[in-house]
Amino acid sequence: MAAKRILFISRSELVSPLHAQFKAHDCQAMVVEDRVSAMKVIDGRKADLVFTLPSLPGYRAQDLLDTLHQSDNPLPVIVFTDKGSAEEARLYMEMGAQDYWLCPLTWEKVQAALPAEAPPAPASQARPRDVAIIGSHPSVARVLALARQVAASKATVLISGESGTGKEMFARFIHIHSGRENGPFVAVNCAALPEHLLESELFGHEKGAFTGAISRKLGKFELASGGTLLLDEISEMALPLQAKLLRALQEGEIDRVGGVETVKVDVRVLATTNRNLEQSVEKGEFRQDLFYRLNVIPLRLPPLSQRGEDVLLLADFFMRRYVREYGLGALRLSDEARDWLLAHDWPGNVRELQNLMERAVLLAGNGPVRPVHFLMDGQEWSPDEQRGDEPGEGPDGVTPDRAAAISFEEGGRIPTIQEMEMQLIMKSLDRTSGNRTKASELLGISVRTLRNKLGEYRKIGLDIP
Ligand SMILES: Nc1ncnc2c1ncn2[C@@H]1O[C@H](COP(=O)(O)OP(=O)(O)OP(=O)(O)O)[C@@H](O)[C@H]1O
Ligand SMILES: [Mg+2]
Repeated sequence: MAAKRILFISRSELVSPLHAQFKAHDCQAMVVEDRVSAMKVIDGRKADLVFTLPSLPGYRAQDLLDTLHQSDNPLPVIVFTDKGSAEEARLYMEMGAQDYWLCPLTWEKVQAALPAEAPPAPASQARPRDVAIIGSHPSVARVLALARQVAASKATVLISGESGTGKEMFARFIHIHSGRENGPFVAVNCAALPEHLLESELFGHEKGAFTGAISRKLGKFELASGGTLLLDEISEMALPLQAKLLRALQEGEIDRVGGVETVKVDVRVLATTNRNLEQSVEKGEFRQDLFYRLNVIPLRLPPLSQRGEDVLLLADFFMRRYVREYGLGALRLSDEARDWLLAHDWPGNVRELQNLMERAVLLAGNGPVRPVHFLMDGQEWSPDEQRGDEPGEGPDGVTPDRAAAISFEEGGRIPTIQEMEMQLIMKSLDRTSGNRTKASELLGISVRTLRNKLGEYRKIGLDIP
C-alpha cells in the first residue's frame, strides 16, 4: 500500500500525540498553521486527505472549502474542533466538508477516514444526504427537537405552516431520521389532482377499473412501501377520499380502484397543510376523525417574520450556496442589507428569502450584497435606485457595466434567474467579442463554468458567438 499523506491545518499540539501511530502505519502527516503553507501542499497535490480546524489566525476553513469546491477533483476535507455545534456541523457539510469531528483525533478514526485504494463501491454512498435545516430561534429549535424525537416512531405527523416555511423540508428530515431512510420518500400533492385521479394515484388501480385504465397501476401507498408517504396540502382532499384515507391509515391496508382484494402496506404517513385544519373541521370540509388521526404529532412551523435573526443565518446560508453553485467569488452582506432583511416581513417565508438571495448573488458582482440587490417580485432592476443604501458605485458596488447588462421589459414580469443569467452571459460575450476568458472575468465566474453554460445554451439552439 502506498504511503498515505495527510495534511493537518491545525495547532501542532493537537496532532503530535498521533505521530507515533502515523509512523507505525506508514502515514505521512504534515502540519501547517497558515493558509499559504496549506495551499502549497494542496496545489501541489501532496496530500490525500485534509483535516482542518474551523479557523486559525488569518485562516478560515470556509475559505478553503470555497476554494476547493471550485477545483475539478477536490480533496476530502474533515473539519475538527474542540467546541462544536450541530449548527456548525451542518454549515460545514453544506460547504462541502466530508465530515465534522470533535476533538480529540484518534488514529482509529483517522485511519477509517483515509481514502480507500480503489474507488468506493456505490453501495457505500447509498445513504441519502441529510437535510440542512438552518435556524436557531427558539420557535424553530423547538419544532426541530420535536421532529427529531418523533422521527423514529411510526406516528403520523401533521406539519402545518404558511407557504414556504419549510414543511416539505421537515418531512424529508423526518424521513431521513426515521430508520426508513433507505426506503422511498414519495410525495403526493392532494391539491393537484381531481378526486378520482387522486384516488388512483394514492391507491392504484386494476386493469379495466375505468375507461383509460389499460393496465394495472400501483398507487403511491404501495410505491412508498418501506418508506415514507408525504400527503401535501391534505386540506384539499375531497371528503369521500378522506374516508378511504382514514381506513388506509387505521388498517394499514388499501383497496386498489377496481380491485377485489385488499393490499397490506407498510408506510409512514406525513401530511402538510397551510390551512388551519381545525377550522376546516369546524366548517365541515375536513373529517374530524381523520384530523385526529393525522394530528397525532403536530409540528407547527412559524412564519419567517417571527424567527428573529434566523433571517440572517438563512440569508448567509443561501448566499454561500448560490455563490458556490454559480462558481462566483465569496460574498458578504453589508450592514444595510442585514438591516433590510431584518425589517422585511417575508410573506413568502423562507422560499421568498431563498429566491431573493439567489437574485442578489447574481446582481452583486464582487459584493458586498446591498439592499439595492434585493429585487422583489414585480420590481424592476434600477441601479440608481436607493433602497436605504448608497448608490451602486464604488469598488464593491454594482458597476454601470454590470447593471446595463440586465434589461427588464418595461413594466413587464420579472425575468427568471436563468433568463437573467443568460442575458448577462450573452451581453458580456458581446462586449468582449466572444473572448471567453475576458467574459468570464467580467462575470466573475470561471472559464469552465462559462463554457458549461454556453454548452447548455447551444443545446437549446442558441447561437453562440
Ligand atoms: N430552515 C430552513 N433551512 C434551510 N432551507 C430552508 C429552511 N426552510 C425552508 N427552506 C428552503 O425553502 C424552500 C421552501 O421550503 P419547503 O418547500 O419545504 O416549504 P413548504 O412549506 O413545503 O412550502 P409550500 O407550502 O409552498 O409547499 C426550500 O427550497 C427549502 O429547502
Ligand atoms: Mg411544500
